[in-house]
Amino acid sequence: MNASTQSRAKAAVTARGVGRSFDGRTVLRDIHLTIEPGEFLAIVGKSGCGKSTLLRAIGGLDAGYTGDLHVDGTVAFGFQDARLLPWARVWENVVFGLGGPRPLLRTQALEALAAVDLAGHADAWPRTLSGGEAQRAALARSLIREPAVLLLDEPFGALDALTRLRMHALVNGLWRNKGFAVVLVTHDVEEAVLLADRVAVLDNGRVADLFAVDLPRPRARIDERFEAARQRILADLGVLELDAVVSAHERTS
Ligand SMILES: Nc1ncnc2c1ncn2[C@@H]1O[C@H](COP(=O)(O)OP(=O)(O)O)[C@@H](O)[C@H]1O
Ligand SMILES: [Mg+2]
Repeated sequence: MNASTQSRAKAAVTARGVGRSFDGRTVLRDIHLTIEPGEFLAIVGKSGCGKSTLLRAIGGLDAGYTGDLHVDGTVAFGFQDARLLPWARVWENVVFGLGGPRPLLRTQALEALAAVDLAGHADAWPRTLSGGEAQRAALARSLIREPAVLLLDEPFGALDALTRLRMHALVNGLWRNKGFAVVLVTHDVEEAVLLADRVAVLDNGRVADLFAVDLPRPRARIDERFEAARQRILADLGVLELDAVVSAHERTS
């Protein structure tokens, strides 16, 4: 996205001085963040630093914040566990809560399931799906709502490595085709660098670092710019030494 489209388009998400406390304990102190339409933003930070809290506020699931928060358009949520209703078939889960004639809903569900390569499981029960399939069903359920902003809270954390790679490619493809903005909360530093236009690092209730990942897609981990971005985030998180220890261990084992 170039500077002129950025200034013309209305931001998808604007946070100005957003704060959130629980029982007198401040989690979010002073969050300033603008997310452009169609932008892919990754939010990383230590466990408990307030990533989910921020995402819930953006998604309208928590009204207890202070400061200004504005979202332009519909938001949809994706979580680590797919949260499918066990008593409804996959396609019914996808359109759950939407109104309209059942045959039309089914057609829409099948389209959304096809987009995540899951049309063959439309009539299956959620418990028969693998972890990756359940995640794709959940993604179809989000996409059918045609969100302007897709909020993903560590959606791939519970998946095996291979399935996670497939999900990365799928989300990347859908994001490119559909044009929604994505806010991806992740503790996986590589995932952030692999997918995001920009990375925001949360620390102490603020955006401690925010930078663009200036790399063509698809991205290669072996690219030195990839490694530079990864190291920057690790340094922000204060885990550079730990990482050095781990990679030294990997080299010797
Ligand atoms: N509803 C709540 N009531 C009390 N404390 C909460 C609530 N939600 C989150 N917290 C606290 O806020 C902090 C940040 O939580 P969270 O946003 O889930 O962290 P993260 O997603 O970065 O791991 C944690 O210490 C958590 O216990
Ligand atoms: Mg969280």
